[in-house]
Amino acid sequence: MTKEQDMEAVYFDHAATTPLDERVLEAMKPYFIEHYGNANSAHQRGNKTKVAVEEARETIAELIGAEPAEIIFTSGGTESDNAALKGVVGATGKTEIVTSPLEHHAVLHTAEALKRSGVQPVYVEPDKRGVITPKKVAEAITDDTALVSLMHVNNEIGIINPLQEIAEVCKAHQVPLHSDTVQSIGKLPVDVDDLGIDLLSMSGHKIYGPKGIGVLYVRHATPWLPSMHGGSQERRRRGGTLNVPGIVGLARALELCIDSMEEHTTHFKKLRQRLIEDLDEKFGDCYRINGSPEQGVPHIVNLAFTGSQGGLDGEMLLLNLDVEGICVSNGSACTSGAVEPSHVLDGIGLDTETANSSIRISMGKDNTVEDIDYLVDQLDVVVRRMTKTTHASP
Ligand SMILES: Cc1ncc(COP(=O)(O)O)c(C=O)c1O
Repeated sequence: MTKEQDMEAVYFDHAATTPLDERVLEAMKPYFIEHYGNANSAHQRGNKTKVAVEEARETIAELIGAEPAEIIFTSGGTESDNAALKGVVGATGKTEIVTSPLEHHAVLHTAEALKRSGVQPVYVEPDKRGVITPKKVAEAITDDTALVSLMHVNNEIGIINPLQEIAEVCKAHQVPLHSDTVQSIGKLPVDVDDLGIDLLSMSGHKIYGPKGIGVLYVRHATPWLPSMHGGSQERRRRGGTLNVPGIVGLARALELCIDSMEEHTTHFKKLRQRLIEDLDEKFGDCYRINGSPEQGVPHIVNLAFTGSQGGLDGEMLLLNLDVEGICVSNGSACTSGAVEPSHVLDGIGLDTETANSSIRISMGKDNTVEDIDYLVDQLDVVVRRMTKTTHASP
């Protein structure tokens, strides 16, 4: 693919990553060459970047209703999730983690890895929509629960968990609540006190910020121990030279997303409505939406193409759309050479055929109504082509 073709591709995979906002790049630029000092150096070059880091920390803290000292910079969502789970387990010495089968692998695989240290993950089953109910969380908590870890918005089906109610349950049992807000931050209001969360993970590259930077928020007095040892950075809570351009970029990206949150939400609702109208017109009842639109964010739409004669192959759908210049993601993963349905679609009870025929469309602020029309037109072409190939007589 040439650079021009790549730039022209209609991108509907913003839940995977977003392009860097030009204004974020502008904020970052001085910290690559001009102000390159190590933020932990005691001289003037170090002081210059230290000030930028502390300003970014204050900005982020204010935007989520936290104290600056509760913000720890990490390399992204994955590290923050790892540090949250390992940190609370290490500090409490307790042996259970309450989570859900729909979490991102950064949480699920960390919980599984902790089994080697004698920790047992306890999975709360979602309801049919993919939502975790406070009642189920209450039933899962025991005296051995170190923490509850539940995401705010699911990255595959866009479902929103009722964190406030879940937090009340956790508080009543005196168990810390961690939430992976990688997909909600900048898109939904996230205030740690309003939501009642004690630990939070966020990532720069999902909000038009840079890759390789994230935040772990840890509320004061939450039992937590660092798991990244090294220098004395981040008050000895996360060793490693600070990624100053990334930190500055993350703060700017979050600020910009929150400033435009209402405008973006209105835009996404409009795009979503157009998408559904177009799909209804072209596909009638040969498609379905996975998850629950009423309980979800507007910019993530997970679709299964059930077809009139059985489900289509989502991976082929993705590849065919790619050829037509459209980027989406699909509902299955290639594990050890075999195509398996995504754990999320499996977790909400979809049968393998439906899950494997699913694609995720995740819209971004720069997508237009024309992009949606183009997507559905091309989907129509591709689905017709695939239906013919799949069901042609031998
Ligand atoms: C919900 C969720 N958590 C965590 C991550 C991982 O974030 P990062 O890519 O910054 O490590 C992602 C990224 O896909 C995500 O969607």
